[in-house]
Amino acid sequence: MNRVSITKLQKKMRTQFIGRSIFFSRKVSSTNDWAKQLAAQGTPEGTVVIAATQTHGRGRLDRKWISPMGGLWFSVILKPEVNVAKIAHLTFVTSLAVAECLKDLYGLKVETKWPNDVTIGGRKICGILGETSSTGEKATFVILGVGVNVNFDTEKIFPQSIRLTTTSIQKELGRKVDLETMLKALLERLEKTLDLYVNEGFMPVLSEWKKYAFFLGEEVEVVDQENKIKGTAYDVAEDGALVLRSEDGSLRRIFAGDLFLRICESPW
Ligand code: BTN
Repeated sequence: MNRVSITKLQKKMRTQFIGRSIFFSRKVSSTNDWAKQLAAQGTPEGTVVIAATQTHGRGRLDRKWISPMGGLWFSVILKPEVNVAKIAHLTFVTSLAVAECLKDLYGLKVETKWPNDVTIGGRKICGILGETSSTGEKATFVILGVGVNVNFDTEKIFPQSIRLTTTSIQKELGRKVDLETMLKALLERLEKTLDLYVNEGFMPVLSEWKKYAFFLGEEVEVVDQENKIKGTAYDVAEDGALVLRSEDGSLRRIFAGDLFLRICESPW
C-alpha cells in the first residue's frame, strides 16, 4: 500500500462521503491520534487516515495494539448528529461492517464479540477503538479506529501471551490478500451500514450484529481493570450494554470490559 495505490483506489470507490479524502503515511504513532488532530482542525467528515505501520497503536482499556506492516490500520472521522450516549452504537455499526465484509470477500466464518471485536473461531482478527470529542451532550466528532490483522502470521509476530487468542487473514486463508481491495470493500460497507443506522436506527444494526454473536447463551467472564464478573451472556441491549444473567437468575447490565468465554470443565 502506498500513496499511488490509494489514489487509484479512491477513483474506484463507490461512496458518498467515507474515504472521499484519504491521508496515508508509512509510519505514524497512532492513526486515531492523527485523525483527532485533523478533526480538531476542521477536516471534513468521512476523512480516512491510514498507516502502513503504527509505533504506538492503541487498543481499548489503554492497551497497546501491535501494528506491523501487512495489517490494515486506519481511522475514520465522523461528525454524527447524535448524543454522546449513543456513540457506542457506532462501534457496533463498524464491527458489523467488518464482519460482513470479511465474510463476503473471503468466505470466512466470522463472529462478533461484545463489545466490538471481530473473531474467527474465537480468535481476534479485528479490534475497533471509538473515541469522541464532545461539547456538553453533543459529540463534536467521533474517531473510529479499525485494526485488522491481514498479511502477517500472528504466531510469528505477536508475543506468546496473545498468540493463541489472535489470528489474521493470512493465517485463516493460507495466503496474502490485496490490502487496497479490502480497504475499498470495508469503507463501502461501513458507509452502507452507517446509512442503515441513520435511516432506520440501531435495532436493525443490532439484530444483524447478533446473528454473528457466537457468545450469546454461553457462560462468560467480563473483565475490566478491576473486576471479574461471571454469568451467562443473555443479550446485548439497545444501548450496547451486555446483559449478563447470574446464577440466581438476576440480570445485570455491563458497559465496559473484555469478554472471555468460560471453558466449562468436562465431566469426563
Ligand atoms: C481493541 O480491540 O482494543 C481496539 C484496537 C483498535 C486498533 C486500531 S488500529 C487503527 C487505530 N489506531 C489506533 O491506535 N488504534 C486503532
